[in-house]
Amino acid sequence: MAQASRRPREATLNDAQLLDTQRAFDSVAGDYDGPRGNNELIQRMRVTLWDTVCREVPAGAQLLDIGCGTGLDAVEFARRGYQVVATDWSPAMIGRTRSRAAREGLESSVVAMHLGVQELDGLQEEFEGIYSNFGPLNCAPDLHQVAEECSRLLKPGGKLVFSVIGRICPWELGHYALRGRFRRALVRGTHGPAAVGMNKHTIWTYYYLPREFYQAFAPWFSLKHFRALSLFMPPPYLVQYYRRRRHWYERLGRLDDRLGGLPLLRSMGDHFLIVMQRR
Ligand SMILES: C[S@@+](CC[C@H](N)C(=O)[O-])C[C@H]1O[C@@H](n2cnc3c(N)ncnc32)[C@H](O)[C@@H]1O
Repeated sequence: MAQASRRPREATLNDAQLLDTQRAFDSVAGDYDGPRGNNELIQRMRVTLWDTVCREVPAGAQLLDIGCGTGLDAVEFARRGYQVVATDWSPAMIGRTRSRAAREGLESSVVAMHLGVQELDGLQEEFEGIYSNFGPLNCAPDLHQVAEECSRLLKPGGKLVFSVIGRICPWELGHYALRGRFRRALVRGTHGPAAVGMNKHTIWTYYYLPREFYQAFAPWFSLKHFRALSLFMPPPYLVQYYRRRRHWYERLGRLDDRLGGLPLLRSMGDHFLIVMQRR
């Protein structure tokens, strides 16, 4: 079959590795709305995803959030009139999403489910849009299976809006290389899953160029557009630079907004934002 022959042979994650990632995110769920998971640079990228989803998917539609974290996006979309099924592999993150929705009086618009991206076959609903913000899809053990499940769950014409951790982040290369941490500087070049430390735990992470990522979805989806997120701006974990010279870095942010969609530049950045449409 043509589709099968396009599948790259990359190591998948075993149960122990999936549990490592789950424990890593469980361990930070309590403070994820603070600097670690929602600082100024993350908020800037978040707004780009919000605006993109609202442009691509009609208000009132049913959305699926893959890897919802503490539910910041799910609750925002519920406020804007969407119905959201919010899923995550970390039970602690799902707990945070449920309490956020309850606090905001939006329980009827946000259904939070403990469900890994590798378990999407457990969903039966139909969606008009599926989004995933800040890299949950970098933790998916089999991106081709995710693409196939998204094609089953999405109505024809429906949209995928994903922000994904990219392979080429000039800021990260420079930051770690200047400190002599060359292996860390080059971690995004890893083929197959890379072990990335967080809070004394391990997150098993796949890195992608936009075209590598799209390849998994190509059998069912057309590529609408993609752009760099935080190419001129530093990645969120370097927010200290931004805080020292906000005014100056805001200019870099405007460069991201203006130039991040240009050929070549759009394949770089801390993350990329990609939009695909179900055929
Ligand atoms: C960097 S956080 C982003 C959270 C949220 N989307 C946001 O924008 O704040 C990545 C999320 O992916 C989730 N995740 C990791 N592996 C996953 C998997 N296999 N299936 C579903 N979610 C996963 C984590 O639990 C975590 O909540």
